[in-house]
Amino acid sequence: MSYPDVRPRRLRRTPALRRMVEETRVAPSELVLPMFVKEGLTEPRPIASMPGVMQHSRDSLRKAVVEAVQAGVGGVMLFGVPLAKDPTGSGGTDPHGILNVALRDVVAEVGDATVVMSDLCLDEFTSHGHCGLLAPDGTVDNDATLAAYAEMAVAQAAAGAGMVGPSGMMDGQVGVVRKALDAAGYQDVAILAYAVKYASAFYGPFRDAVESSLQGDRRTYQQDPPNIREALREVALDVAEGADVVMVKPALPYLDVVAAVRAAVDVPVAAYQISGEYSMVEGAAASGWIDRERAMLETITSIRRAGAQIILTYWAVEAARLLRTRY
Ligand code: PBG
Repeated sequence: MSYPDVRPRRLRRTPALRRMVEETRVAPSELVLPMFVKEGLTEPRPIASMPGVMQHSRDSLRKAVVEAVQAGVGGVMLFGVPLAKDPTGSGGTDPHGILNVALRDVVAEVGDATVVMSDLCLDEFTSHGHCGLLAPDGTVDNDATLAAYAEMAVAQAAAGAGMVGPSGMMDGQVGVVRKALDAAGYQDVAILAYAVKYASAFYGPFRDAVESSLQGDRRTYQQDPPNIREALREVALDVAEGADVVMVKPALPYLDVVAAVRAAVDVPVAAYQISGEYSMVEGAAASGWIDRERAMLETITSIRRAGAQIILTYWAVEAARLLRTRY
């Protein structure tokens, strides 16, 4: 059968019909809010390249997390911005470092009401801005970095993180973090592996958010955008090493990768709608070129439709509120 017997438009005629046949829905609990906390701030400070996103003070972070929980988001992912950075990123492993202090604050405030996650990477803490420790020749030393990640993971677990997110793209990072957590008695702390992370132009605004001093780029450890088989290989390795959730990042330019990963593994798949994806929509909307709210929900829904069940997005709170009024 075909036209005129078949008319797909019949099911699009009214909002009620469209709602009934809607194939993809996003629940607020599937959204995770990434948040920045900066050492020494007394007031939150706006991030110029990410309109609406703040570097929080410890105090404003606690309040914002409570708001996020009230909006129904599934989790928060914390990033720390230290006052002082050094070549080894010592603020990341220090129990009194800003990220670990903020984790304690947040867990004390909301307990298990949401999933408290932490970025497990050195780039926010290193003076050179790389995700790992540098060898004398200036390259990123994979195996030396793993030891630092192990220590950082235990510090974050001790501070109360329920899920740690190794994001540095070092080989073997998930296995090393799993072993270190288990050896320290944190068998129940989960790992959200940034399994597939591309060397993307869309991280630009994030580097402002964490005041990154990176010179050069991350192409010797993050993936090359044209590759997808390599992504599946990274995912298989991370699952074998003990990843509880695997993530693809960025999201929108890599929806084919999200779908392929979803088909390849049984663990939950997450995707990170990163800073540049956010700012691109905010910037165009501020110029009056697109409808901000519709673009926001359309992009989030697309990521869900591609197969990501957990979505990290700077719009998590706003989207959660909108979605709750819908269904
Ligand atoms: C690494 C990390 C980065 C992001 C999340 N974790 C930066 C990078 O790899 O360059 C980017 C997130 C975003 O752009 O929103 N710590």
